[in-house]
Amino acid sequence: MGKILAVVSQKGGVGKTTTVVNLAAAFARRGLKTLIVDVDPQGSVRYGAGLKKGHATHGFADYLSGQRPLRDVILPTSLSWLRVMLVGSVSDSADHTYYATQIATGDLLPKMLEAAVARCDIVVVDTPPGLGAITRRVLESSDRVIVPLQCEPLVLQTTPQILRGIQDVVSRHPGLTFDGILLTMYEAGNPACERTAEYVRKHIPRSLLFDLVIPRSAAVSDAFAAGQPAVLRAPADPASQAYVNLATLLAERFAK
Ligand SMILES: Nc1ncnc2c1ncn2[C@@H]1O[C@H](COP(=O)(O)OP(=O)(O)OP(=O)(O)O)[C@@H](O)[C@H]1O
Ligand SMILES: [Mg+2]
Repeated sequence: MGKILAVVSQKGGVGKTTTVVNLAAAFARRGLKTLIVDVDPQGSVRYGAGLKKGHATHGFADYLSGQRPLRDVILPTSLSWLRVMLVGSVSDSADHTYYATQIATGDLLPKMLEAAVARCDIVVVDTPPGLGAITRRVLESSDRVIVPLQCEPLVLQTTPQILRGIQDVVSRHPGLTFDGILLTMYEAGNPACERTAEYVRKHIPRSLLFDLVIPRSAAVSDAFAAGQPAVLRAPADPASQAYVNLATLLAERFAK
């Protein structure tokens, strides 16, 4: 039986999707059978996961609405150990109410995750920003959770709120292990970023924070724009190496 790893954060744009695709690719490169599941109606995974040319665009929402069987929404990538379940047609629509209600009130999300994890070593779930109904439903079924935190001065104000959110999530879901807060888009030599990281290290307990940070790197956003995880397109880049190191650390933890 594998593990379900959710990547969540109260804030948007902090590097959740980037973390999902790069970690998942790094797990797959280690020979772990990995599935990315995108439940975020924004559907960003589709652009950066290394899907094959001309891939189908249906996904979880189409399974949820009964339009597609589960096997149809699991897509291959350039890596044989990495598959992807996109969020599907809901990402083409502006109104996500029906999708969110189906997830909140039905049991197809936990059932899908249960079926997926029975066939995989790791299922990595990309979630919408915030701790709303969709993310909470994912956390109910997850074994582990990571919270990316963008290295920016606003963190000084939002850290207490972030810690409260994590406490709330962990206390509600006894089956869930909190793996850590991951500092993303870290810029060495940028005084504001260095001060922020220092503040975070001082105010967040060590057990809740990964020692390693993900550097800000053009290779990460360039790779995403080119449809690939950076760990595959620019493996020597420091951000790619940080994601590979994070995958190694997590794979060792999960194996215990
Ligand atoms: N390490 C990095 N270096 C440079 N750019 C990055 C890095 N991580 C993320 N980005 C860029 O920051 C932006 C936000 O990243 P991403 O889409 O992963 O965030 P998100 O938390 O998933 O956002 P949302 O909440 O909208 O889903 C993207 O343009 C992405 O390419
Ligand atoms: Mg995202």
